[in-house]
Amino acid sequence: MMRDGRTIPQFGLGVYDMSGPETYGAVRAALGASITHVDTAEWYYNEADVGRALADHLAESGTARSEYFITSKLMHNRGYEGTLADLRASLGRAGLDYFNLYLVHSPIGGPAIRREVWRALVDAKKEGLAASIGVSNFGVRHLGEMVAAGVELPVVNQIDLHPWMRHEDIVAACEAHGILLEAWAPLARGLKFDDPVLVGIAQKHKRDKAQVLLRWGLQHGFIVIPKSASPARIVSNANVFDFALDDEDMAALDALDEYLVTDWDVVDVE
Ligand SMILES: NC(=O)c1ccc[n+]([C@@H]2O[C@H](COP(=O)([O-])OP(=O)(O)OC[C@H]3O[C@@H](n4cnc5c(N)ncnc54)[C@H](OP(=O)(O)O)[C@@H]3O)[C@@H](O)[C@H]2O)c1
Repeated sequence: MMRDGRTIPQFGLGVYDMSGPETYGAVRAALGASITHVDTAEWYYNEADVGRALADHLAESGTARSEYFITSKLMHNRGYEGTLADLRASLGRAGLDYFNLYLVHSPIGGPAIRREVWRALVDAKKEGLAASIGVSNFGVRHLGEMVAAGVELPVVNQIDLHPWMRHEDIVAACEAHGILLEAWAPLARGLKFDDPVLVGIAQKHKRDKAQVLLRWGLQHGFIVIPKSASPARIVSNANVFDFALDDEDMAALDALDEYLVTDWDVVDVE
């Protein structure tokens, strides 16, 4: 349950770094496998493919839009009017009349711009363009600014979270204010699949390494959005609700933190 009273599926498909046809195929595979949550962004240039895959799935399955959770994100922080225009353009590309969740993709731009962008998101929510609103890559200082200003707080902060990047300070700040953590790169982009601790835990549970990393995120209470363009891996990544890591496994994974940056790192920008 998010702080605005709405719910978000704890597992979703991330679609960063996919071509249009790959995105369409991956989203169709995910929706067909009962994965109802998809994480896209203006920056991924595939909102249209996500929207088309959802529309075709709805038409073929007879299910309702309300059963699915689609997130997108604002690419450029440039002020109030620009934010509303960019959100409307994203909705237009996706062929949707609302996103379930719309995020400010990064804190870049400084405090004054961040304030205006957030004011636009609050108004967009009132207008029904986004059911819920949140942030991404916000550090402790950026969240502190919002708390100090007394504005409506984001429902989620989507940050890079995996055993080698735990962002404990940001996690604590979010948890103190009831802001859910959404883990991007929950598989650490596959960069650590040879780590002996991970290999050992996967062997112990007879599960694959991706599944162990996703359990780690889920058991910390994070929402996980692994990316895969492979229908088989999309299904196996979602097959993580029938086993659990024990305290020893969690502690061993927790101890791997090394501030590994897998993509960008903007949590400390001005
Ligand atoms: N807010 C932000 O700034 C931000 C930044 C980055 C990402 N994100 C979001 O988070 C999502 C996930 O993060 P990510 O894409 O960076 O990385 P990730 O999910 O940690 O890793 C994706 C990589 O792992 C591979 N993979 C997936 N499942 C696998 C499996 N079962 N076994 C082996 N390899 C597997 C994928 O290859 P295949 O496709 O070939 O399976 C891909 O190369 C993104 O798609 C995006 O939605 C947000």
